[in-house]
Amino acid sequence: MENGELTKFIPYGRQFIDENDINAAVETLKSDFLTTGPKVKEFEEALAERLGFKYVVAVSSGTAALHLASRVLLNVGERVVTTPNSFLATSNSILYVGAKPIFVDIEENGLIDLDLVEKELKKKKIKAIYLVTFSGHPLDDKKVGYLKDKYGVKVLYDNAHYFGKDEGVCDIATYSFHPVKHITTFEGGAVATNDEKTYKKLLRLRNHGMVKDSSMYPWEYKMVDLGYNYRLSDVACAVGLSQLEKIDMFLQKRRQIAKYYHDNLPEKIKPLYPYNEKSSYHLFVVRYPFNSLKEKAEFFIKMRQKGIGLQYHYIPINQQPYYVKKGYFKKFPQMEKYYMEAFSLPIYYSLSQKEQDYVIECMEEIL
Ligand SMILES: Cc1ncc(COP(=O)(O)O)c(C=O)c1O
Repeated sequence: MENGELTKFIPYGRQFIDENDINAAVETLKSDFLTTGPKVKEFEEALAERLGFKYVVAVSSGTAALHLASRVLLNVGERVVTTPNSFLATSNSILYVGAKPIFVDIEENGLIDLDLVEKELKKKKIKAIYLVTFSGHPLDDKKVGYLKDKYGVKVLYDNAHYFGKDEGVCDIATYSFHPVKHITTFEGGAVATNDEKTYKKLLRLRNHGMVKDSSMYPWEYKMVDLGYNYRLSDVACAVGLSQLEKIDMFLQKRRQIAKYYHDNLPEKIKPLYPYNEKSSYHLFVVRYPFNSLKEKAEFFIKMRQKGIGLQYHYIPINQQPYYVKKGYFKKFPQMEKYYMEAFSLPIYYSLSQKEQDYVIECMEEIL
């Protein structure tokens, strides 16, 4: 079957921008503040309310969010247990501050194996655990809470894939608003916490480590920390606010798409985990028993020829050339199996059922 009347390329993810988003951007462009204005605080407060945190700091990307979080949580030489199944930024942020990632294997559902995390916690002094709500699947908060209390570690949730109410276990959570994510501010991200001291430090680090202090002179500012320019503009925040108004609709549609895949996928293509109402389904990952990576690559190419952009998430971070050079290379049994079998199907708000049927048909035909 050819793409026929479905002439558009079907990517694995894309943004949804409506007239309200465009109007919000235009209105802010016409206002007095393009950046460091009122829309930033408004966006942060709306996010805090929606995500269930006391404080949110909007930043220029999910990577910036992770970097700031690492500046707050870690010191040089400290160890952090984390997952190989994430985007590079998760563990890169540990390296940015001179700390040391320790990778452990994943479970069948793509998330870090918390039993293996505990094994590491028993072996050595560990400062923090960096956990990824991979694909949008929530973590086992009870178990994470137990690890946090028993071993006294700091907990970071990289929620670039997850958009739901926080359960109060992590010290810091980070978010990304890249176009393929649940809501977009083009580039953009956020750091969330319930701790006031952490919040104040994050605010400072976002803006060059500067504090205003006009007690002596009206122009005076003081740099008390080595910070960055990780600010998010008012234009981006205005679009973020407008996107946030649609979040329930976005999440509902993602779950609907996931359910439809569950009900209609051919027998041999297995969803990564049983349908889960709590997942925010940033990704819809499936498994198929390919015999080799070459066979998997051929399948990707054939699907692309039919106008469908599959993706794979993720190449194990510790097998990237930079990490190999630094001595982090290791093969993990579950991660290897996952790498061979897993791939991500298209899932985004504007994906139609007809397009989903087409994706399913093409897979049936090729596999
Ligand atoms: C799990 C995860 N963490 C962090 C990031 C980094 O976010 P950003 O692209 O906004 O810097 C991403 C982006 O894809 C991600 O998927």
